[in-house]
Amino acid sequence: MILAMKKHDVISIDHLPLEWRTLVAAAMDVREQAYAPYSGFKVGAAVRTATGRVFYGCNVENASYGLTVCAERVAIWKAVSHGERQIVALAVVSETGAMPCGACRQVMIEFAREMPVLVADTRGRATITSIEALLPEPFPGADLTGQENSTQERITRADVG
Ligand code: THU
Repeated sequence: MILAMKKHDVISIDHLPLEWRTLVAAAMDVREQAYAPYSGFKVGAAVRTATGRVFYGCNVENASYGLTVCAERVAIWKAVSHGERQIVALAVVSETGAMPCGACRQVMIEFAREMPVLVADTRGRATITSIEALLPEPFPGADLTGQENSTQERITRADVG
């Protein structure tokens, strides 16, 4: 996975390493399944987990607009539902190459300490940033009092799989 891109450098997805192309292809494919009758803005996302598996999701809107769920969160929740606790890369594709929303950034950092995030548009132009850059000062889970919820407990559980 390449990490050395400068902020806002744009690269063609055709020139990406195979691992990234696989992830972007999954995000592009699942974007076709987006349920976005209200915004018309289709998004697809794919994550690679520490065990090497790929999970993907699309945005799912609702007539009660606030119930809409973003593609990134669907992909992450699917990974977690399959027993994965650590994501190591995320790709998101939309028509405009939009950056992940704040809610999704918070969900990403729950399952990734450091992670490259690739943002692509449907014309195949991509930029690579990271969750650390997107959310430099996250809500500190360590401040939660419950042992079950402490960051250290979570990390330990993630590390032992
Ligand atoms: N959306 C995502 O899927 N991911 C984001 O990071 C931002 C927004 C979706 C939610 C909604 O269905 C549509 O884009 C317009 O906000």
